[in-house]
Amino acid sequence: MSIDLSERVKRLKPSASIAAKKRVGELQAAGRRIVDFTLGEPDLDTPTFIVEAAIAAMRSGQTHYTATQGIAPLRQAIARKFRRDNGIDVDPTQVIVGNGAKQLIYEAFAATLNPGDEVIIPAPYWVSYPDIVSVNGGRPVIVTCPEEDGFLLTPTALEAAITPKTRWLILNSPGNPTGAVYDRDRLAALTDVLDRHPHVALMTDEIYEQLVYDGAEHVTPLKVAPQLADRCLLVNGMSKAYAMTGWRLGYAAGPPGLIGAIAKLLGQNTTCANSIAQAAAAVALDGDQSVVAAMTADYRNRRDRMVALLGAVEGLRCAPPKGAFYLFVNVAGLIGRRTPAGTILETDLDVMEYFLDAAGVAVMDGASYGMSPFLRLSFATSLAAIEDGCGHIADACAALARGDDR
Ligand SMILES: Cc1ncc(COP(=O)(O)O)c(C=O)c1O
Repeated sequence: MSIDLSERVKRLKPSASIAAKKRVGELQAAGRRIVDFTLGEPDLDTPTFIVEAAIAAMRSGQTHYTATQGIAPLRQAIARKFRRDNGIDVDPTQVIVGNGAKQLIYEAFAATLNPGDEVIIPAPYWVSYPDIVSVNGGRPVIVTCPEEDGFLLTPTALEAAITPKTRWLILNSPGNPTGAVYDRDRLAALTDVLDRHPHVALMTDEIYEQLVYDGAEHVTPLKVAPQLADRCLLVNGMSKAYAMTGWRLGYAAGPPGLIGAIAKLLGQNTTCANSIAQAAAAVALDGDQSVVAAMTADYRNRRDRMVALLGAVEGLRCAPPKGAFYLFVNVAGLIGRRTPAGTILETDLDVMEYFLDAAGVAVMDGASYGMSPFLRLSFATSLAAIEDGCGHIADACAALARGDDR
């Protein structure tokens, strides 16, 4: 007899990016050489001073359970970071630390959604948002933000999506998968809409905050609209800025009632975040931030190289993203073409499969992020891999015939 699964978990799709990582691993284990552009994490290692801080924490016995909300020195360091980088004042009692930003997003929805409650998710979106909303009983309301609008939500589209059942709007800037960055004016226009709808809360996911290019500025919506403080959850974390994905350390700031509810859930779930990662994160946030700037400069070089190489390929179109470490490439020019094996490429999923099979290059399909026909390519990988992978993509595109060619 097998164990029956809950309706909740049956609704849940496995994470597309985790599935891609697994597939690349299997192909590599079977001996295939794959250039991997699916990565949603820095390829760089965590800076040494942060690693040393973790070792020191272990040596000094910081190896026990901590307060569920997180150790006080870390919450104070986070409050200092909000002042320094974002120009906002947050009391450390309104900060909570979790096992990654993802866990805090999950618990925030678990803490607030009742069946049928709606969450507005601008598309393209980070793969996990709709599933995290659904598994917690909510209804994802996807609002398409076309390429012509820079993949950004407009106030008109937001206004049109709000209903009496709307509980949250999620904004992710800089965004995964497009790298789009919301500037002050756009944030002001969107928060004006929220002012007119006091039943809608704002979740702002700022995990890529430090990764902005070409003079783009990261602005937190709370700086533009401080009046939203009692209905805004600001989510951030150590993963991307400090190359600490495996440490699993994220943080959030919000109104006391919500932070208390998230703490209640974490208390019955993981008890607290890893004590050693917490101690090291406090040192990272207060330490020399030039490591972050150096990593960002590195990503910018890689971005420029990838944009130059792919921009020269007939059938692909992409603009340099202002933030994060992904290119969201329009592949409409490849749809309808015929592969050397005789298949017609009908969707971005087909293009993704073709690149994997014919070019040995792994990418993510746009459909997983709510917009087709696009592909997401991560440039958080070495310049050598970028040269190699883009070369193979160019060859694979050149080998395609027009769909009507015989
Ligand atoms: C937009 C976005 N938010 C949150 C996360 C999760 O970050 P963490 O590693 O802190 O859980 C990711 C990771 O890919 C992401 O892309």
